[in-house]
Amino acid sequence: MKAAIRVEKLSVSFAGKHVIRHLSLEIASGGPTFLVGRSGSGKTTLLRALNRLNECLPGCATSGQVELRLGEQWVDAYAATTNVENLRRRVGMVFQSPNVLPLSILRNIEMPLKVALSLPADEAEARAEQALREVHLWDEVKDRLSQAASTLSGGQQQRLCLARTLALRPQILLLDEPTASLDFKAAQRIEDLLLELKSRYTLLVVSHSLGQARRIAESLFVLHDGERIEALSKDVFQDRDALFSVMDELI
Ligand SMILES: Nc1ncnc2c1ncn2[C@@H]1O[C@H](COP(=O)(O)OP(=O)(O)O)[C@@H](O)[C@H]1O
Ligand SMILES: [Mg+2]
Repeated sequence: MKAAIRVEKLSVSFAGKHVIRHLSLEIASGGPTFLVGRSGSGKTTLLRALNRLNECLPGCATSGQVELRLGEQWVDAYAATTNVENLRRRVGMVFQSPNVLPLSILRNIEMPLKVALSLPADEAEARAEQALREVHLWDEVKDRLSQAASTLSGGQQQRLCLARTLALRPQILLLDEPTASLDFKAAQRIEDLLLELKSRYTLLVVSHSLGQARRIAESLFVLHDGERIEALSKDVFQDRDALFSVMDELI
């Protein structure tokens, strides 16, 4: 296994209360690697620790080590010399509900490119088209790029959010229940997309759907609580009964 993320003795607390304590794990490049566990077990907090998004939240303290393989280099996420903006671009995140900006479809992708990367307009436009093609949204929106992103369906909005993240050229993608707010068909499209993207990006997906995990996960972790994480082998998590019995113990 070629590792892409190494977590060593990670602890995260909010206002002094530990949510994650001394957690260690290693995530392979490619994937998708799935992370499942009951609500409140710390899945979102663990994802946010990988690209230092927890630091944006009040009262949060993090210790331990997170190393990320970005290109051929290992980067210590919490080193004083690490540029946080750059790190967050290379370790992109997609959230449970599509968080489109109150802008046009095209500006949703162009804006971060111009603000974060200072790309000139023509380059930003070219990258936006490329990203929209990558998520198979281009043909659906190419004649309405200046319309508000909010006029898209939920599934289209989620693919737009994915395109916005991809346009920043990340190497690792963190997806926090990306299909939870979508109907079956829209969720299916995201699943198909994840299978396409896994050859180009390392994918770490939090999912509430064990069926989805069985269909597309390459590896799977169960977060029992903030202190205990278990890697299940593929023959266990692809066996419906075995997987459900592990999950039953959680509830
Ligand atoms: N910003 C925050 N401030 C305070 N507590 C938080 C914050 N985010 C998460 N927590 C707490 O951390 C625990 C784990 O939350 P979370 O990581 O969202 O779990 P999950 O994604 O598995 O449902 C919860 O008890 C939650 O209340
Ligand atoms: Mg969560």
